[in-house]
Amino acid sequence: MSVTILVDRPAERVARITLNRPEALNALNLQAMREITTAAAGLDRDPDVGAIVVTGSAKAFAAGADVKEMAPRSFGDVFAADWFAGWDALSRVRTPLVAGVAGYALGGGCELAMMCDVLIAADTAKFGQPEITLGVIPGMGGSQRLTRAIGKAKAMDLILTGRTIDAAEAERAGLVSRLVAADALLAETTATASKIASMSKPAAMLAKEAVNRAFESSLSEGLLFERRLFHATFATHDQKEGMAAFTEKRPAEFRHA
Ligand code: CAA
Repeated sequence: MSVTILVDRPAERVARITLNRPEALNALNLQAMREITTAAAGLDRDPDVGAIVVTGSAKAFAAGADVKEMAPRSFGDVFAADWFAGWDALSRVRTPLVAGVAGYALGGGCELAMMCDVLIAADTAKFGQPEITLGVIPGMGGSQRLTRAIGKAKAMDLILTGRTIDAAEAERAGLVSRLVAADALLAETTATASKIASMSKPAAMLAKEAVNRAFESSLSEGLLFERRLFHATFATHDQKEGMAAFTEKRPAEFRHA
């Protein structure tokens, strides 16, 4: 039984993890990390789930890692526990993750959103890496993923000043996939996840793997990796079905295999 999250199925083949610590603006404590990563790993193994939504409340996606939980820790504590390493489990989820962000996405909240594959933001969303104002630095991937997402100039600005940017600036910077009106966020996030989940699941998983490889390899290695994955899709039923449906001018009926 989860305490910090709610898990539901808002549409066919779509699962949703909703952060639910309203008293702390969804601050990510250790329990939340365990519950989010465990739920996501379980959903990842479910063949009936083709996309996973990660969302928060209207006021906060997540206002960061839990400062009150971290405040008394020593170097020895956080080093021995390898604090935040548990979040790597979310990066191992192969099912596409769609973040629906309204309100504060600060520190670990911004970093959690960036661990997702598609980031849909409400016009109320506010992003930032304020760790520097606490005398620390990002620890859930902010210095790496933000830099890859928006480039050095902008990432340095946010990480060194700790300033918060609004949704429009985040979209201009390339942090956000789509910007929508706040009251449309849940519908748009679910619809996007549904669209992804309606595609061949093996193709979606391979596409995610290929895009992510762009951050890990040289161009020539990445191109070779992509080409081999493309070749691999020809071993699936869904490639035969998708191409047959195109030539027969009918919708494809994917088996996700
Ligand atoms: N950790 C723990 N509790 C938090 C929290 C956090 N990151 N963010 C908010 N809360 C708690 C507040 O302490 C408050 O609880 P109490 O009423 O018990 O004091 C409650 O949530 C509501 O927050 P506020 O009263 O502060 O709400 P506000 O609307 O006035 O301000 C805010 C909103 C600007 C987001 C403000 O809460 C804030 O600045 N939060 C901290 C943001 C932050 O520094 N995040 C980075 C954390 S470090 C990190 O994430 C490290 C990393 O790399 C992973």
